[in-house]
Amino acid sequence: MKKLGLGILGSGKGSNCRAILEQISAGNLPAEARLVVSDVFDAGILDVAREFGVPNVYLPPGKFRTRLEPNVEMELERLLQQAGVELVVLAGFMRVLKEPMLGAYRRRIINIHPSLLPKFPGIESWKQALAAGEKITGCSVHYVDAGIDSGEVIARRKVPVLPGDTPESLHARIQIAERALYPEVIAQFCEV
Ligand code: GRF
Repeated sequence: MKKLGLGILGSGKGSNCRAILEQISAGNLPAEARLVVSDVFDAGILDVAREFGVPNVYLPPGKFRTRLEPNVEMELERLLQQAGVELVVLAGFMRVLKEPMLGAYRRRIINIHPSLLPKFPGIESWKQALAAGEKITGCSVHYVDAGIDSGEVIARRKVPVLPGDTPESLHARIQIAERALYPEVIAQFCEV
């Protein structure tokens, strides 16, 4: 079976990236991680990539805080295309993508978000869910568009909010669900 070429982008510790690479290694996901990219020099996700022998690169983001400088985003697209990336997987990537990425990878960029979208987009959504008194929250995988966590939802997984939950305990429970859900959704892209 032909393997789907993945490019994984992240700014943080890389637990979702690790879960994806583990499923590939275990032979459960007919995909190949062709490149891991981070906008943070010492992000754990780059160490995860090295551990699994995946090509990886730190891409200095430029002067903006929430997006890439236009020339940097052009370079990102070039690197991904050159590596043969067919599906771009955002795994804790803390910047919005614009052009040329959105045009080059239309409906081929996905993100995982720690809430049941469309509820609680944006940052620290587990805190938002807790503050709102939700009994159930969860995580969502969605297509990436120009907005923040606003693209079409592909799949969701529910997670209970338990009595006595702190933001940390709830976030940890959501992340366990994320690590199961993301490889499952990527598997759907491998089938088409
Ligand atoms: C995840 O919890 C995800 O929901 C959010 O960023 C976090 C990244 O964590 N988008 P990690 O780097 O995959 O450990």
